[in-house]
Amino acid sequence: MTEPKPLLSTLRRQIVEPPPLWLMRQAGRYLPEYRALREKAGGFLELCLTPEFAAEATLQPIRRFGFDGAILFSDILIVAKALGRTLAFRDGDGPSLPPLMNAAELASEADIAVLAPVYAALHQIKTALPAHTTLLGFAGGPWTVAAYVIDGTGRNRFAKAQAWAKDRADELERVIARITDATAAHLIGQLDAGAEAVQIFDSWAGLLPPDQFHRFVIAPTKQIVGAVHARFPEAPIIGFPRNADALYDTYFAETGVDALCIDQSVTLDHARALQAHGPVQGNLDPVTLIAGGPALDDAVAAILAALRGRPFVFNLGHGILPETPLAHVEQLVRLVRGGA
Ligand code: CP3
Repeated sequence: MTEPKPLLSTLRRQIVEPPPLWLMRQAGRYLPEYRALREKAGGFLELCLTPEFAAEATLQPIRRFGFDGAILFSDILIVAKALGRTLAFRDGDGPSLPPLMNAAELASEADIAVLAPVYAALHQIKTALPAHTTLLGFAGGPWTVAAYVIDGTGRNRFAKAQAWAKDRADELERVIARITDATAAHLIGQLDAGAEAVQIFDSWAGLLPPDQFHRFVIAPTKQIVGAVHARFPEAPIIGFPRNADALYDTYFAETGVDALCIDQSVTLDHARALQAHGPVQGNLDPVTLIAGGPALDDAVAAILAALRGRPFVFNLGHGILPETPLAHVEQLVRLVRGGA
């Protein structure tokens, strides 16, 4: 008999001790082996779209830290590329795309040739993964992907996308509709290729006021959850509407996601209340992981005291930062796994 996987069991509402642990952006520049691989690949997109490289990047943090979840190495903006947008990543400058003028500039269906290397990477990862490790796929939330596609960059706090949400809401809805269909198809493609659970990263959900949050975050997410669960009823979906604040509750209740990832601005009382709806994942401040020492000891102890004993996945409240010392990640693993 195979042992149950701690992360997968937790996402299915079981209480696991110690709680499973993985970190958003766990493959990345804080790892020397990642920086070497990135150099060898020549660029970030080459790394994402070459199955051998993407598989290797996914496995690096698993080898080093034995995390319970292995998240596919890719990017949320691959879906924009599959919808025909030209995507570039310049060093130290984040993503850049030609700003979108209208919804018709997006293809009506994702180009499978763009996404195929992602599925090939998943097949490779699956064969190399330790038995207790859960393989996670992911995609961006449609609003967050739309925000990058419309503004073309993350540098201006998505001023244009936010203006569309007010003044061109029907056009934004058409943009989001295309991204929503492509996202559902991409998540299903990842589950077909061996992913066991998926996360939806809606990193900029917190920019929207409540009425727009319902229309552009909750409604498309609910549609994705419906489509994915129709094909894979048993595959847990983690939703992460970052900075949703008071709207986390409504999102968890209305979208149908199986688990909720929360950022570090959520109080532990609120996080505990959210566990009434289902498993919660989070929410150590990535800056506290940079600090290490007693600050890290105390923050981890507080999170564990508040959230363990109900379905809970230990994670950060956002991605790990490049300047994070490896020794502090080791300290975190010891603290969560119950060592000294
Ligand atoms: O979590 C993982 O380890 C898996 C891989 C992963 C990446 N991006 C790799 C990456 C995941 C899950 C993402 C998600 C992602 N990508 C999000 C949502 C989560 C979040 O951070 O809010 C967003 C908004 C993006 C878009 C994106 N990609 C931005 C804004 C940037 C630039 C910022 C930065 O950190 O450089 C990227 C680049 C990126 N994606 C890197 C990595 C490892 C760094 C690129 C490099 O190696 O130069």
